[in-house]
Amino acid sequence: MSCYEIKGGRPLFGALAIHGAKNSVLPILAACLLAPGQSVLHNCPDLSDVSATLDILRLLGCQAEREGDTVTIDTSTLDRWNVPERLMREMRSSVIFLGALLARLGTAELSYPGGCELGSRPIDLHLSALRSLGAEILEDQGALCCRSCRQGLRGREICLSIPSVGATENIMLAACGCPGVTTIVGAAQEPEILDLQGFLQAIGVRVSGAGTASISIEGGLPLHPAEYRVMGDRIAAATYLCGAAAATGEVEVSGIAPDTLAAVLSCLEEAGCEIHTGPDRIALTSGGPLHSIRPVRTAPYPGFPTDAQAILMAALAGGEGSTLFVENIFDSRYRHVDELRRMGADIQLAGRAAMVSGVRRLHGAAVRSTDLRGGAALVIAALGAEGTTRVSELRHIRRGYQALDKNLRLLGAEIRELP
Ligand code: EPZ
Repeated sequence: MSCYEIKGGRPLFGALAIHGAKNSVLPILAACLLAPGQSVLHNCPDLSDVSATLDILRLLGCQAEREGDTVTIDTSTLDRWNVPERLMREMRSSVIFLGALLARLGTAELSYPGGCELGSRPIDLHLSALRSLGAEILEDQGALCCRSCRQGLRGREICLSIPSVGATENIMLAACGCPGVTTIVGAAQEPEILDLQGFLQAIGVRVSGAGTASISIEGGLPLHPAEYRVMGDRIAAATYLCGAAAATGEVEVSGIAPDTLAAVLSCLEEAGCEIHTGPDRIALTSGGPLHSIRPVRTAPYPGFPTDAQAILMAALAGGEGSTLFVENIFDSRYRHVDELRRMGADIQLAGRAAMVSGVRRLHGAAVRSTDLRGGAALVIAALGAEGTTRVSELRHIRRGYQALDKNLRLLGAEIRELP
């Protein structure tokens, strides 16, 4: 089983262009199904989750080709509507194909996306919203069989009780196939939703309001393929910045809008880092151990992103003073804590709360990635730790980070992949 071997204590210096956003490109790839013909996506990251999504598109009958960070999707040969269980299990966020297939073909079949390392991942909000738009959905032994009802899909107002990112995206895609106007009240406001809106507008959808709690989509219009550039991955950017914060040094990340990371940047500044920003770049300087900050409570955007919780925790665990974390989004997003403890971290858990007491310097150890961001957190901890750390179960990390080891080496880290 391959692993990263990291010799800690080397400051990071340099500049890095951030790859395209995983959580933006996945719904945009599904949205390509809405427009018959060939769409071209630039800044498409080379991640295992993206490869799995391209495999799904191919299995549905589409052509999907990659050339560098440009992916071309031709949906004119789309002739299937079922997403195989194997691929659903590989990537639960494939539930996003429900809305796209329903809008394009009026039918969709996929297996129930199970839970994951972060806990149970219900899709009740997705299903109730699609039913409101006129979908008949049968849940039969783990399979979801959906089709538009006899009267067809119809736009309407949908209120979300939780600003679910995935449910908001699924409704936006399904609404493109619903004649009339669909308004999502209580929508998620993440930047990735705004990026999806940008792609939908490019293929001819009349959609507005993304980035606010109310999004309107006029469905049933003829759509055409488009060429589009995916936004930068703000969580990958946060990861490299937390790496520099933990190891000290000066790192600039580009291809990212600073305002999409404001909550994380404010925590890093409070912890003692110096932050300078430009329209599409963020530079961080860290000269010594991070110190404690006010409680970090994860929340829907623009609050502190749950995806950055583990990586900031890892940086603070090797600093000074105590910081309280409260994970409000997922039931089980502290699986990285046991692994950080193996590196000497002092973290007390109580339900959704985690009290992190900085130990000034972590030490190297053999640790296991438990999930995508938990795995990245272990790499961040290792960069600032005394001695050598080996991080295994790299499959989790490959889901969301393109060439993490190579990029860190470019910044001066001593990291290599062992077979
Ligand atoms: C997206 O997941 C992201 N994934 C996650 O990133 C991210 O952590 C999450 O949004 C929150 O920002 C992708 O975009 C592919 P939610 P999603 O629906 O859409 C509950 C990463 O690390 N809920 O906003 O699945 C749910 O249980 C990944 O890149 C329901 O109860 O998240 C959770 O507690 C991890 N019923 C909360 O809402 C539903 O029908 C937020 O989930 C749907 C969600």
